[in-house]
Amino acid sequence: MANGIEEKPTVTVATATSPSDLAAVPQLIKELADGVSSLEPGCNEARQALAIKARTLMQALETPRETMIKHCWAQPAVYAAILCGNECGLWKLMAKNGDKPQKVKELACALGVDPVLLSRLLRHLGAMGYLLEVGEDEYKPTSFSLSLSLPIMNASPWAAPPSSTSMNTSAPGAGRTPRTPRTAPLMHAHKTDLNYFALAQSRGYLEDFNNHMGGYRQGRLPWMAPGFVPVQEVLIEGADRSSPDAVFMVDVGGCLGHDLLEFHRYHPAAPGKLVVQDLPQVVGSIAPSEENRALTAMPHNFFDEQPVQGARAYYMHSVLHDWPDERAEAIVKRVKAAMRPGYSKLLINENVIPRTDAYWEMSALDLVMLTQLSAQERTESDWYDLLERRCGLKIAKIWSGGRGVESLIECELK
Ligand SMILES: C[S@@+](CC[C@H](N)C(=O)[O-])C[C@H]1O[C@@H](n2cnc3c(N)ncnc32)[C@H](O)[C@@H]1O
Repeated sequence: MANGIEEKPTVTVATATSPSDLAAVPQLIKELADGVSSLEPGCNEARQALAIKARTLMQALETPRETMIKHCWAQPAVYAAILCGNECGLWKLMAKNGDKPQKVKELACALGVDPVLLSRLLRHLGAMGYLLEVGEDEYKPTSFSLSLSLPIMNASPWAAPPSSTSMNTSAPGAGRTPRTPRTAPLMHAHKTDLNYFALAQSRGYLEDFNNHMGGYRQGRLPWMAPGFVPVQEVLIEGADRSSPDAVFMVDVGGCLGHDLLEFHRYHPAAPGKLVVQDLPQVVGSIAPSEENRALTAMPHNFFDEQPVQGARAYYMHSVLHDWPDERAEAIVKRVKAAMRPGYSKLLINENVIPRTDAYWEMSALDLVMLTQLSAQERTESDWYDLLERRCGLKIAKIWSGGRGVESLIECELK
């Protein structure tokens, strides 16, 4: 008996070893073929819906046993192989060699790595379809493996999934939602008092993490693009033009400033300064460049008093999801205290999880936040609870970018 549930099986082994739903396969294939032939170029939502249908097809064909082995062995092993490829420079080398068959022996020699190890790693990536096997110990790259050569596709251990060790039952408070940064399962698994960001820094993974954040955002409609938030109407009209020192937007926890740079590319004529704030070691690594001249970098701990008073907008992207409610409230209240009544806005660019039919990237990220930071992705009612009830702000509007895309939550002083 475990957790009061009778251990006598109610399901036979045959359930686990038979295809999950063979009868559904023909109809799924037809729907997929029809969907692909009517797919409009650039229609991301329809393409994503087809990818989910293809997954359903895959699961229908697989046995539950195979699905389980895939999750427990095959995918974690893919991740390990990708990491090894990152660390030894394999992905950059294969991309440089181009779209031609590449022999393990020659790759291993060029990289100075053990050919036996490389052969085993690439064999699994080939078996899983991430490389194209063209002969014994010979592979051609795929668009996925080519993409791994980009720094923003960096899959360092610091982009790690919620590991089984961090969710194990011996973690403090197992079976309950961790609610304080100190009880994050990741800290238990690493036996450390350092939180996720401090640990990343202490292990030398800060740059990898920043790159990973840069990659996560790619290929999605940014909120400042035409057809999402009408920036002219919501922010630019009514902005203070009286002084060149007036601050237009402060990106709180803005990392290397990629969001503000994107904003500047879309709206180069917006009046006033664009200030990126983050921890000193992060903003300190913003390289001087022609493009970065659009930014004012400012070290700032967002739990301290906000140094920029009365900006047109305070913006936070993927910041509050790193913190449980009590800490998130403290961060928002620092911004609230700096807002000018009737003028300043707080803009929060985050997932708003729907009540049903959550997109898989959002539900996955929610568990990453849970294990790494005792934090969460939030539903619409969670956002109202945090921003209106706890922080005393008014949500003026939630601008939605469509399924699977982060929303922009526009808040004002009441
Ligand atoms: C998930 S990242 C989001 C970065 C960026 N807004 C983006 O969307 O790419 C969270 C950011 O919060 C920063 N951060 C963590 N603790 C902080 C603190 N106490 N004060 C200021 N920034 C902090 C991290 O350095 C990191 O850049």
